[in-house]
Amino acid sequence: MSTISVLKVKNLSTYFYTQRGTVRSVNGISFTVAAGRTLCLVGESGCGKSVTALSLLRLIEPPGKIVSGEVWLDGRNLLELPLLELRRVRGKEISLVFQDPLTSLNPVLTIGTQLAETIVSHEEISWAEARRRAVELLLRLGLPDPERLMRLYPFQLSGGMRQRVMMAMALSMRPKVLIADEPTTALDVTVQAQILAELKRLQEELGMAVVLITHDLGVVAAVADEVAVMYAGSIVERGPVAEVFDRPAHPYTRALLRSVPRLDRDELVPVEGQPPSLLNLPAHCPFLPRCPQAGAACWGEKPKLREIGPGHAAACHRLFNHAS
Ligand SMILES: Nc1ncnc2c1ncn2[C@@H]1O[C@H](COP(=O)(O)OP(=O)(O)O)[C@@H](O)[C@H]1O
Ligand SMILES: [Mg+2]
Repeated sequence: MSTISVLKVKNLSTYFYTQRGTVRSVNGISFTVAAGRTLCLVGESGCGKSVTALSLLRLIEPPGKIVSGEVWLDGRNLLELPLLELRRVRGKEISLVFQDPLTSLNPVLTIGTQLAETIVSHEEISWAEARRRAVELLLRLGLPDPERLMRLYPFQLSGGMRQRVMMAMALSMRPKVLIADEPTTALDVTVQAQILAELKRLQEELGMAVVLITHDLGVVAAVADEVAVMYAGSIVERGPVAEVFDRPAHPYTRALLRSVPRLDRDELVPVEGQPPSLLNLPAHCPFLPRCPQAGAACWGEKPKLREIGPGHAAACHRLFNHAS
């Protein structure tokens, strides 16, 4: 089993400078992913998962700005790479499947043309060979009649089909790192299971490192090697998935795991109350107002992630300080 980290993220912070103030979307997060391994990023809506994904590829646009951090891919810090070099790395070495596939497909080109163009622009292969590879990928991702699909335009596809086409597009370049932001959210459970299984097979074939963003703990259980739980722009707990699921340490993680899926909303709402506004983050632990275990120590400075077991870390004063 390889444990060499392909992707190393250190102290990444991304803010949005809006008229209402500074939105602190991502606050000093760090994580690593090894070749052939899957890290799942989980957390409630608005906790900074998508902004994290965009930051890794430097796709944050004004008024947003990456204010600190390093993103190491094979010995290069993507946050310092000249733009021309970064463009070569994007797609080919590190690929992103967006949460909203309609905005990232070109409406005036057929699926076949977009897929083949993507492949040809990154690899020295013929148009015919690129089309053949595209058809094969579409088939593997469970899309029926891919030859016909290649002739269609994005608007002619359902949301679930577009999501799979985006996945095919990202995988067609055989990247070292795949970042997938809620890639199966629009799909029914049967198709979702099929895609996750196929993703796993392709991951093994290519030795790809995967960062999978999801709010679905079932997906985490099915595919994750490691899990990182985000709250208000910070990672509050991370570790091997079995360890975190069996011995959750942070009160937020414990609440997440206790929360049962609700039919009336497609989101994680594990505890009563609202996450803090990212415009006015407190100096103390951001989970304090909702925390069932909060004590006096929690009003101190924001807790840092600390090791509590092999590869398992949590950011909670109560784990290290039992004074109330
Ligand atoms: N362009 C933007 N301008 C201002 N705030 C933004 C922008 N994009 C994202 N944010 C804020 O960043 C926070 C994290 O968003 P996001 O990463 O999309 O959350 P999620 O975990 O649901 O993917 C949210 O509070 C969101 O309002
Ligand atoms: Mg999101």
